[in-house]
Amino acid sequence: MADTRIPVAILGATGAVGQTFIRLLEGHPWFRVAEVAASGRSAGKPYAEATTHWMEGSMPADVARLTVLACDTAAVRSPLVFSALDSAAAQDLEPAFARAGRFVLSNAKNFRMEPDVPLVIPEVNASHLDLIPYQRAQRGWSGAIVTNANCAATAAAVALAPLHEAFGVRTVFAATMQAISGAGYPGVPSVDIMGNVIPYIGDEEPKIEREMQKMLGRLVGNVVEPAPFVVSAHANRVPVENGHTIVMSIGFDRKPGVDEAIAAVRAWRGAPEVRGLPSAPEIPLRYADEPDRPQPRRDAGLGNGMTVSVGRIREDAILHLKLVAMAHNTIRGAAGGSVLNAELLVARGLLARPGAA
Ligand SMILES: NC(=O)c1ccc[n+]([C@@H]2O[C@H](COP(=O)([O-])OP(=O)(O)OC[C@H]3O[C@@H](n4cnc5c(N)ncnc54)[C@H](OP(=O)(O)O)[C@@H]3O)[C@@H](O)[C@H]2O)c1
Repeated sequence: MADTRIPVAILGATGAVGQTFIRLLEGHPWFRVAEVAASGRSAGKPYAEATTHWMEGSMPADVARLTVLACDTAAVRSPLVFSALDSAAAQDLEPAFARAGRFVLSNAKNFRMEPDVPLVIPEVNASHLDLIPYQRAQRGWSGAIVTNANCAATAAAVALAPLHEAFGVRTVFAATMQAISGAGYPGVPSVDIMGNVIPYIGDEEPKIEREMQKMLGRLVGNVVEPAPFVVSAHANRVPVENGHTIVMSIGFDRKPGVDEAIAAVRAWRGAPEVRGLPSAPEIPLRYADEPDRPQPRRDAGLGNGMTVSVGRIREDAILHLKLVAMAHNTIRGAAGGSVLNAELLVARGLLARPGAA
């Protein structure tokens, strides 16, 4: 029987996030990996040869056989393009694909804060996809760029979403403990990170300090009005394989009681239109009752890596409340978030449904 799923391409397919796309899309009901592309170092080689370090599980045989293409709109033909490019390459390539009429689902930082580019976590701000017609009109292209956020900002924004909706977040002090897989492959040298904490991740703190407000902001006409809160972030790399942890102290417009805040987190399910999408977890945000959770090793895989965990909501002596949030950085914080964004595009009719004429 003919495979009627939507053909998709992965740009930066050989890297850490690119590989996560390939794992997540294996057997996907709507999308099929038709093309893989990477740098000139990899182009022309079979994917299995170009990807010298496959990081998790087994490489799907049908992808292993694909020839790696150059990231060029003439070579890559799929209508839907997942970009796991590093930012230097994304700057010119992602707009080139949008100009060529493709949907680009980007993980890079470059276009996240552009006023006409949606920065989306489906359960939090699906409505921001309404920027797409405006983006097309502004840029004169028939494709689109849709971005997902920095991985630590994603964990924090999902955790804050119900609290912001109910009590109005005003101030956030955040400190992260970020996994080494967030640095791509080969990432941080093992001699630097084993038994150690590195209190610096290049360009990470500014992303955490600005992206959450856009995602938790309101779309008014063609403008995202950022949520009116300030964030101070400290980013740290720790010897954890997968799963970024972020501890936050939060001040609100109206101080909630601890039980009230826990109830808001427990009740939150996010935008109804996201429920039932193939990659949507049943519970996007889980509150952990155990006093020593969430932990990356135990909780990063919840909901196939798409559930964000929160725990330890308690009084804060300086602001109002404090908590711990944690999410799988290469799944919810990168490839899985992009795949869910693409599913939402299909559900909203922006991309033809698989099998549709
Ligand atoms: N890792 C995470 O947790 C995470 C989370 C959120 C967002 N991100 C973002 O996702 C992107 C990918 O991150 P990563 O960790 O997967 O990085 P990575 O492991 O270093 O992979 C980078 C990929 O980009 C390709 N590439 C590099 N230069 C290129 C060029 N000039 N033209 C075409 N392709 C080129 C590489 O191909 P070759 O193999 O051929 O060199 C490789 O496939 C980055 O923008 C990163 O900031 C990462």
